[in-house]
Amino acid sequence: MSGHGDPIPMTARKGGPLSGVAEVPGDKSISHRALLFGAMAVGETRITGLLEGQDVLDTAKAMRAFGAEVSHLGHGEWVVNGVGVGGFAEPQDVIDCGNSGTGVRLIMGCMATSPISATFTGDASLRGRPMGRVTDPLALFGARSYGRQGGRLPMTIVGAENPVPVRYVVPVPSAQVKSAVLLAGLNAPGQTVVIEKEATRDHTERMLAGFGAEITTHDSPEGRVITLTGQPELKPQTIAVPRDPSSAAFPVCAALIVPGSDVLVPGIGLNPTRAGLFTTLQEMGAELTFENLREEGGEPVADLRARFSDNMQGIEVPPERAPSMIDEYPILSVVAAFANGKTVMRGVKELRVKESDRIDAMARGLEACGATIEEDEDTFIVRGMGAGGLPGGATAQARLDHRIAMSFLCAGMASQQPISVDDAGPIATSFPIFEPLMESLGAHLARTKS
Ligand code: S3P
Repeated sequence: MSGHGDPIPMTARKGGPLSGVAEVPGDKSISHRALLFGAMAVGETRITGLLEGQDVLDTAKAMRAFGAEVSHLGHGEWVVNGVGVGGFAEPQDVIDCGNSGTGVRLIMGCMATSPISATFTGDASLRGRPMGRVTDPLALFGARSYGRQGGRLPMTIVGAENPVPVRYVVPVPSAQVKSAVLLAGLNAPGQTVVIEKEATRDHTERMLAGFGAEITTHDSPEGRVITLTGQPELKPQTIAVPRDPSSAAFPVCAALIVPGSDVLVPGIGLNPTRAGLFTTLQEMGAELTFENLREEGGEPVADLRARFSDNMQGIEVPPERAPSMIDEYPILSVVAAFANGKTVMRGVKELRVKESDRIDAMARGLEACGATIEEDEDTFIVRGMGAGGLPGGATAQARLDHRIAMSFLCAGMASQQPISVDDAGPIATSFPIFEPLMESLGAHLARTKS
């Protein structure tokens, strides 16, 4: 079932090389945060390059429901007039975050230390995902939550009237949990301390500092310690959102597996907490080069060039790299199917609680395409079949998961027989221009009948 209207079945088949410039959309993580932090600043935040995918549009709508003024000026250009830390109004209706775990979890953090209530829901995928990982620490601030069995949406959060600051060791490597705690800490007096054993994406820390919050990070034997001083006045910012490395991963990986390809992806964010895929691909022998390295808006950025790589080798991906490439395992598993030898991905159990169980979704789909897979709860192993070696000729289930849909469509651009997905609709959550962009590079994609 699709949560996004009628399913859009789509088929990818082998064609000529992929070549040209792939201008992928803005970073999804940074886009959500730009809207949220703008809504909590006093005055006018201007954003360019915002991802206009459904996930981010749902967050924009939610910020309006909490009282911020959010205006769309033109392509990627937005203005947010914020209400200040602690200034959220109580929404008059249910907040529907669609497919977005980041949206719902970060917004829960933003409102949990204000004396208001809000009820959250989402599509079938989001309603199946665990929220306890966020509501447990929010309870320490004094917020209460009332959800379905297993801490699922729909869920009402009753914000704390007299929030207290919190010291919290994040039990799973999750930037969403870390961020929700920090955002709740914004409206608590005193210092909120978050400790993460493994470093996850740090856009929240970087951007909060940019908005004028007092926030420090240091490494300790316990892990990375982030200390935030509560109740700051956030100052509005001008934010240029870099292009999303997680979206760039699709044209980049497609170029690596389609013979003769040469694709340039300009201006992509290369924050080290996000760049694990590119290190992994280079270790496999991918022809990837970084050009024009620079800094834009507090984030490292580069132009990335990917060329067909006919002799990639399977490798062991170190488990400690997982947080820096957590969204990229689906497309890595596709590249692995076109490499020589086994690619072993360990420490990946968080993939099971994403928009879908991504290990199961990729394993079943790749098997249907003729690959050999091994898996356990925390491990995913793909036996490579070499360049051009994946048979294909199957339909994969996207399971309301944009990255699963895009991964199988990229696989179909290089497999012997076409590969279909039952529903490409969810791609609009993060990469609404995927279809025309890949076609402009030379990919053969067709909307098919179900
Ligand atoms: C995100 C964090 C990651 C990632 C998601 C975006 C964020 O989730 O998978 O796509 O913007 O903070 P977790 O923090 O749950 O691992």
